[in-house]
Amino acid sequence: MCGIVAYIGNRQAYPILIKGLQRLEYRGYDSAGVALIDEDLTSHVTDLNVYKCKGKVAELASFVSEKNKNGTIGIGHTRWATHGVPNDVNAHPHYSGSKNLVIIHNGIIENYGSLKEELKKRGHVFLSDTDTEVLIHLIEDIQQKENIRVGEAVRLALNQVVGAYAIVILSKDNPNELIAAKKGSPMVIGIGIDEFFIASDATPIIEYTKNVVYLEDEEIAFIERGKELKIKTIKNKVKTPYIQELELKLEALEKGGYDHFMLKEIYEQPRSIKDSMRGRLSSEKGVVNLGGIAEYEQKFLNAKRIIFIACGTSWHAALVAEYLFEDLTRIPVEVEYASEFRYRNPIIYEDDVVIAISQSGETADTLAAIELAKSKGATIIGICNVVGSSIARATHAGSYTHAGPEIGVASTKAFTAQITVLVLMALRVAFLKGTISSSRFHQLLNELEAIPEKVERVLKTNDKIKYIADVYKNSTNALYLGRGYSFPVALEGALKLKEISYIHAEGYPAAEMKHGPIALIDEEMPVFVIATKGASYEKVVSNIQEVKARKGKIIAIVTEGDTQVKEMADYTIEIPETDEILVPLVSVVPLQLLSYHIAVMRGCNVDQPRNLAKSVTVE
Ligand code: AGP
Repeated sequence: MCGIVAYIGNRQAYPILIKGLQRLEYRGYDSAGVALIDEDLTSHVTDLNVYKCKGKVAELASFVSEKNKNGTIGIGHTRWATHGVPNDVNAHPHYSGSKNLVIIHNGIIENYGSLKEELKKRGHVFLSDTDTEVLIHLIEDIQQKENIRVGEAVRLALNQVVGAYAIVILSKDNPNELIAAKKGSPMVIGIGIDEFFIASDATPIIEYTKNVVYLEDEEIAFIERGKELKIKTIKNKVKTPYIQELELKLEALEKGGYDHFMLKEIYEQPRSIKDSMRGRLSSEKGVVNLGGIAEYEQKFLNAKRIIFIACGTSWHAALVAEYLFEDLTRIPVEVEYASEFRYRNPIIYEDDVVIAISQSGETADTLAAIELAKSKGATIIGICNVVGSSIARATHAGSYTHAGPEIGVASTKAFTAQITVLVLMALRVAFLKGTISSSRFHQLLNELEAIPEKVERVLKTNDKIKYIADVYKNSTNALYLGRGYSFPVALEGALKLKEISYIHAEGYPAAEMKHGPIALIDEEMPVFVIATKGASYEKVVSNIQEVKARKGKIIAIVTEGDTQVKEMADYTIEIPETDEILVPLVSVVPLQLLSYHIAVMRGCNVDQPRNLAKSVTVE
């Protein structure tokens, strides 16, 4: 997820761009850049000035402080890397081959590899590792070959592109026009008096105008100085701009209209799960491809053991992975708290594959555990959400989760993105090892592709979850129970509740109750049970009966249409049926919402809970 901003009008563009980028930093902040056209109004000579650097928007501002920032037309970008590590070269804007065109882009061009190879054959030379640079070269290649205007070249190019984009293009030879287009990534156009604003959302726009047009997928906007906004589709169909008036206040806009980043990120999960699959699986072709580990697949095939190392929520994702990988690949798995692993003088073999999971990519204990495993000759694979982070750079290879920046301290969308990538990785290895039947493989691919829509459906039960939260908001303790793939989800649900509402909560394997925790059960104790259809359903039902017999309160997450548990539980939350190994992706969502609402009702600081940091970069 990146932030884009652009301006054309009568004012100096730079101040508008840099302020807009600051407002968009929540979308990404590993590098930033601007491009401005300074036109001599007598000679009409134009200078296209591009300034970009690694780091936050503040670093860009100091980088350009002494440079020529004149111009009443410009584009700006703050990056969250998906292709190419964060550095000056990979920062946006990107030049075309002639340096007459520049582009900014938010999204992922899935077929950039094949387009890049084709363009290289035609003599194009690339400076960066990004998919974005490929797109601007393609646009210029078409413009020069067909001898057409840039806008038409953009339209033709976008018909060749597979993936998501929100782009703005600036041409040195035409300082009176911006060309914008979008598909799958957000874009809003602000309409002022003889001026236009473009941005990823309305936060950079709202202080200048409330009149906006939300571009629809596969639409291109031709924004010319002093003229009406023109829109047409990439199939050349003219569209009438639908101008709306913004109602939201700036503060609300930064959170996408949600009260907290955590809630926004919970609701982003259909998209972040989809983005984490994007370009990596095709159910109709029956393929899974994780480019980031392609060169290390043999290591998985030779591995006698896989060791997961992580902390917190990422450790819970690793526990889900234990069930996944042993179930699908038949490779023995161990799951280690990084903080314990690094100090207990563990036995590590050279043919071990160690998988480190980290949202931030900066967790000190996980980084230290990686260095220990690496020193013993193991192969280190990373699953991180921050491209170019310390952990990503410390591993031999890896696969990024494309969840976008996670601002809320309590991890939500990163967790489901991690599980998405872990499912793909386990499926890929099982396919290579031949430990999964073709029918099961295809069935799981189809089920995985259906998950975003199922998460969307669970989010629609928010009002009921909020009602249940109100019933239990004053509890002093809580138990979370699950079996099999749902045991790690029980742990994750308990962590969510305790870290943002400060209610003590514990997660347990449901069968473990009778080995002690059942002594805690009384009429004050809410017990959250994941009781979805699956191999251990009947056993979980028995555990529920044990709790009921001791007057415990049962809040059960059940498969849609369940009647048996419904009769026993005090409250049930229904989730769509899915394959047992994918249930964590869906069943965790009600627990995230439950902890969120309880925390809000208790007046807690949901996005920045007391004592916690988003990334624990110290021991
Ligand atoms: C989870 O909600 C917490 N924010 C915390 O447990 C977190 O998962 C843990 O600190 C690990 O962080 P990482 O994934 O960035 O390594």
